[in-house]
Amino acid sequence: MTARPIVIDCDPGQDDAVALLLAMASPGELAIRGVTCVAGNVPLELTAANARRLVELAGRTDIPVYAGCPAPMLRPLVTAEYVHGKTGLDGCDLPPPSMALAEGHAVDFIVETCLAAGPEGMTLCPLGPLTNIAQAIIKDPRILPNIREIVLMGGAAMITGNTTPSAEFNIYVDPHAAHVVFECGRPVVMIPLDVTHKAITTPARLDAIRAIGTRVSDSVAGMLDFYDRFDMDRYGMAGGPLHDPCVIAYLLNPGLFAGRRARVRIETRSELTMGRTVVDWWGITGDAPNALVLNEIDADGFYAMLTERLARL
Ligand code: RIB
Ligand code: CA
Repeated sequence: MTARPIVIDCDPGQDDAVALLLAMASPGELAIRGVTCVAGNVPLELTAANARRLVELAGRTDIPVYAGCPAPMLRPLVTAEYVHGKTGLDGCDLPPPSMALAEGHAVDFIVETCLAAGPEGMTLCPLGPLTNIAQAIIKDPRILPNIREIVLMGGAAMITGNTTPSAEFNIYVDPHAAHVVFECGRPVVMIPLDVTHKAITTPARLDAIRAIGTRVSDSVAGMLDFYDRFDMDRYGMAGGPLHDPCVIAYLLNPGLFAGRRARVRIETRSELTMGRTVVDWWGITGDAPNALVLNEIDADGFYAMLTERLARL
C-alpha cells in the first residue's frame, strides 16, 4: 500500500503535538508533504516554532514546516494560552528549534502541493483555525479537484462549545474561514467535540504512554500532564480530551469512528452564536449533506494505537 499524501495544518498546542507525532510515527501509511502553521492556540511565531520543535523531536526534519496566516480572515485573533500555557507547549522542555522555517508562505505551499498532487489527490488535515486552508482555496480554486479530503478537528454537533457556549475554538477563531471550507464542495470529515470529548487521557492511559520510556513519550506525558488540567477543572473529566490526534487516527483506522453525513453551516453573523457549527443531524432541512460528521470513537482502540505508534519514534 502506498502512503497517503497529506498536509497537516496546525497550531501547536499540546494536542496538535501528539497528532503530529502520531502522523510522523506512521510513514508507511502517511506521506507528510509538509506541516503548515496557523495562529490559534498561541500566536503564529510560537506555533511555527513549536511545529519545528516537534519535527526535530521525531527526527523527521525531512518534513518542511511553513508559517501561514498570523490572524483570522476578518476577525481579530483569539488565542488560548489559558489552556496551552505561554509557549503553547507548556509541560515539555523541548529546546528552541534549530531547523529553519521552509521558504515561502504556507498558503502558497498548500496551493502548489495540491496543484501538483497525483491521481490520489491531496488530503488536508487542519488541526487549528481554518484560515490557511480557506485562503488557499480563495487564492487558487484550481486546487479543489485535487483535494481528496479535508479531515478536520473542529466544531460541535449535538453538544455545547468549549470557547463559547455555542462554539468550539478552531471554528470560533475563524468562522469565515470555516464557512469557505465547508462550502468548498470537496469531501469534508468533521471530527467535533462530540468525538474528542470521548477521547479522554485518563491516568491509566497517560501511564501507558509514560511507560514507553523514551524522550518522545516523556515529552508527550509532560505536555498532557500540563494540558489536561484545564478540562479536568472545567468539565470534571478524568483527564483531558485529546482532540487533534483523532484526525490522524481517523486516517490510520477509520473503523475506530462512526458518524453520518449531514449538512453543516457556520454561524458568521450573530455574536451570541458566532462560530457555531449548525449540524442538520436529522436531515430536517432536506439540504444535501456537505460533510461526514463523526460522533463516536472506540477510545480504547484509539489510545492503544496511539501508544503503540508513539513507541516507534
Ligand atoms: O477545540 C479544540 C481545538 O482547539 C484543538 O485543535 C486545540 O488544539 C485547539 O486548536
Ligand atoms: Ca489545534
